[in-house]
Amino acid sequence: MPEPRKPTKASPKVIAVGNLKGGTGKSTVAVNLACALAVSGHRTLLIDTDPQKSATLWGKGGRLPAAVADFPVRDLNAAGEWLSELDLLKGRYARIVIDLPAVVSPALASGFLVADMIIVPTSISDLDVQATRRTLLHVANARRERRNAAPIVLVLPTQLRRRGWFGDGGIKAQLGPLGEPLLPPIRYDPAFGAAYKAGRWIGDAARGGKGHRDIMELFKATEAMLRDRIGFFAQPRPQPAAGTALVRPVG
Ligand SMILES: Nc1ncnc2c1ncn2[C@@H]1O[C@H](COP(=O)(O)OP(=O)(O)OP(=O)(O)O)[C@@H](O)[C@H]1O
Ligand SMILES: [Mg+2]
Repeated sequence: MPEPRKPTKASPKVIAVGNLKGGTGKSTVAVNLACALAVSGHRTLLIDTDPQKSATLWGKGGRLPAAVADFPVRDLNAAGEWLSELDLLKGRYARIVIDLPAVVSPALASGFLVADMIIVPTSISDLDVQATRRTLLHVANARRERRNAAPIVLVLPTQLRRRGWFGDGGIKAQLGPLGEPLLPPIRYDPAFGAAYKAGRWIGDAARGGKGHRDIMELFKATEAMLRDRIGFFAQPRPQPAAGTALVRPVG
C-alpha cells in the first residue's frame, strides 16, 4: 500500500458518497476524491460497499494512491459488526471514503449513520433530481437519529456538459430547491472512463485536465468544510475498541 507523503494529525473523517439513482457518478467521485486525499498526505481508505464492486475493480491493479477495501454490509444483522470494524479502521486512517450502492440497503443506512460528511452526486436532469430528493429523505432520517452528531450534507452536481452552466442559474435552479448546499460541480470528462480502464485516478491518467481540476476543487471544498466544523467534531466520540481490523485493503 502506498505510504502517505506526510503524516496527518487531523482526527479521522468519514465521507460517504451516495445516491439512490444509479450512474450519477458516485464511484467516480468516491475513487478520485479518495485519491486526491491520499496524494495530499492523508492516509486514506476507500471502502466499497456496492455489490457491483466498481471501486474495487478500479483499484484492483494497485495503481491508486488510496487503499481500497471491498467491504459490503452483508445484511441488516451484519451492520453492527460493520460499524465496529469501521471504528477500528478510523484508528488507522485519517480519511475513509465510502462508496454506497444505489439502493435502499443496510449499506446506505450504515454509511449515512456513520459519515461526518455525506456527498450526494447528481446530474441536473429531472430523473436524477427526483432520486436525489428521495435520497435526501433517507439522509433526513439519519440526521434525526443522530441528533448531536448530524453529518454535513452536500449535493454535488456531476457530469455537466455545458460550460455555460458553471455558476449560472442552471445548476442552482435545478438543485437549489433540494435545500442542501451545493459543491463545486464535476464536468463531464471522458478522461474519467479512461482512468477507470487504466486503473488509475484522474490525477495520474489526465493530470491537469478538467476532470482532475474539478476533483481538486471538490477536494479543497470538502476539506475546508471539514476544517470549519472542527469544533463540532471535537465532541466526544466512542473510542474504537482494541482489536484487529478484519478488513484487509487491497492494492
Ligand atoms: N464526470 C464524468 N464525466 C464523464 N463520465 C462520467 C463522469 N462521472 C461518471 N462518468 C461515467 O458514468 C458512468 C457511471 O459512473 P459511476 O460508475 O461513477 O456512477 P455510479 O453512481 O457509481 O453508478 P452505480 O449507481 O452503478 O454505482 C461510468 O461510465 C463513468 O465513467
Ligand atoms: Mg458506483
